[in-house]
Amino acid sequence: ATYDETPWFRPQYHYTPKKNWMNDPNGLIYHNGEYELYFQYNPYGSHWGHMSWGHAKSKDMVHWEQQPVALMEADGVMIFSGSAVVDTNNTSGFGNKTHPPLVALYTGFVESDKIQDQRVAYSNDNGMSWINYENNPVLDRHSENFRDPKVFWHPPTKSWCMLAVLAQKHTILFYTSVNLIDWTLASEFIPSPSTGVSIEGNWECPDLFPLKVIGAANQIKWILKVDTSGNRTEMSRTGAQYFIGEFNGTHFVAGGKSQWLDSGMDFYASNTWNNRYSHDGRMIIIGWACNWYYSENIPTSPFRGMMSIPRVLSLLPYGDGLRLAQQPIQELQSLRGDPITFAPNPVVTAEGYAVQFNTNHVRSLEIFLNVTVLSRDELKEFGLKLMKGPSQELVIGWRSDDQSFFINRTASGIVDMAPHFPVVNCTQVPLNQDGRMWAQIFLDWCSVEVFVNGGVVTFTDLFFPDTNQDIMEFYWTGAKDAITYDLGGYEMTSIWK
Ligand code: FRU
Repeated sequence: ATYDETPWFRPQYHYTPKKNWMNDPNGLIYHNGEYELYFQYNPYGSHWGHMSWGHAKSKDMVHWEQQPVALMEADGVMIFSGSAVVDTNNTSGFGNKTHPPLVALYTGFVESDKIQDQRVAYSNDNGMSWINYENNPVLDRHSENFRDPKVFWHPPTKSWCMLAVLAQKHTILFYTSVNLIDWTLASEFIPSPSTGVSIEGNWECPDLFPLKVIGAANQIKWILKVDTSGNRTEMSRTGAQYFIGEFNGTHFVAGGKSQWLDSGMDFYASNTWNNRYSHDGRMIIIGWACNWYYSENIPTSPFRGMMSIPRVLSLLPYGDGLRLAQQPIQELQSLRGDPITFAPNPVVTAEGYAVQFNTNHVRSLEIFLNVTVLSRDELKEFGLKLMKGPSQELVIGWRSDDQSFFINRTASGIVDMAPHFPVVNCTQVPLNQDGRMWAQIFLDWCSVEVFVNGGVVTFTDLFFPDTNQDIMEFYWTGAKDAITYDLGGYEMTSIWK
C-alpha cells in the first residue's frame, strides 16, 4: 500500500493511480469481459514527464486494479496519447485469428527534435505487456504537434480509420489502413468559423463515433469530438467540443454548430471505449478530471490526477437540433449504501429557506435533486451547497434571472493554485413546460459531477475543501412556496483503501 499524504482528498470511487502523475485516458478497449484503461503516466514522479502508458483493468469500470506500466518511455521517445483495438481478423499479422492481437497506436514524442509521429505496439497477453513494432514510426510527417491517434474499425468500408490532430492548426486528419501499419491520408477536417468552434490553444485528443438518434427510426449520426486547451493568458474556455454530422469512412461533414460536452472546468481529453460493434452496444466515455491551467498544482499527494466516472452517451432531439446526453454507468449503483435524508422542514435563513444534512465525514455521495418551480416570478435561485462551513462552500444551483445552471467554487477551500481555479461556470438551462429541473450529483472527496435533466448538461469540477466542514444544504431564495422539491441520495461505498 502507498502511504497517502492527503487521504482527505483521495477519491473513493473514481479511478486514481496509487501514486504519481496521471493525465489522459488512453487505449480504451473492452475484450474478454474486461475493460482496459491505459493512461498518460509518469512512472517516476507526481509531475508531468517521462510520459508512459500506465494501466488498470476492470470487469465493471467501477473496481479497477492497477497493473504494471504497459508502455515505457524509451530511447528519448515519450509515449503520448493514443488508442487501441482488438485486431479480430489479425489484419496486422501480430497474432493469429484464434488469438487476435491487441494493437495500440500512440504518438511518439521525440525529445531531441520535438517531432511527434504515430507508432504501433501490440500485445498477445491480454494487454499486459506490449511490444513496439520494429519499423516504427508508421506515420511521420516530420511535424511538431501531430498527435493523439484514435483508431477504430469501419465495417462498411472494411478498413481501419484513424483521426489525429495538428494541434496548433486546429485541423483533424483522417487516415485509412487495411493492416494498422500502412496509413493513407484520406481527408482533412477544418471546421468553418460559422460553427462557433473555439480554436483557442491546442486541439487535442479527437474521437469519432456513431450513435442512433433517440426517437428516430434507424437514424445514425457521427459525433466528432475534440478538446481545446484554451488560451492560458485569458480565461478562455477549455474542454471537449463536438460536431454532429456524417462520416463515410474517409470524410466527416459537420451539420450545424459545435457544442460543448461538459460545462465545468475538469473534463478533458475524454475518449470512448472501442467496444462499439460488440458487447452491449453502449458508447461509454471517460475523461481526465482536470485542466491544464492548474493540473501541476493540485494539492494531492502522492497521486496527481483522477478520471471522471465513466458515462454512457446518447443522442437526442434538443431545442431545434440534436444534443449528446451523458448518464453515469449503471454499474455505479452497486456502490449505493445507506440512504441520506435531509431535515424534513425548511428553516428560514438570511437569504431564504434551507434544509440541511450533516454528512458526518462521509464525502462519497450520490445525491438527487428534483425541483418543480411552481411560480416562475417568485423564485430567484435554488441549489445545493456542499462542504459548507463558516467561510467555505461549493454551490451548485440554478438561477432564474438568466435561466442558468451554475457551479461556483470561488470559496470552496484551497483555490489559489491558479487564477482559473476560483471561478463560476454556468450554462443556460431553461425550465421545461412543467417547471421541473432535476440533477444527479456525485460527490467524491475532491470532485463533483453533476448530470442536469438526464445529462443534457453536465458539470465536472475539482475542489479542495477544508474537510472538517460537513454541512450539505439545499436552499432557495424568493417566496417560500415558489417551489416543491424532492431530495435524496446514498452514501457511496469506498473502493480505495
Ligand atoms: C492532452 C495531451 C495530449 C498528449 C498528452 C501528453 O492532455 O496534451 O495531446 O498526447 O496530453 O501527455
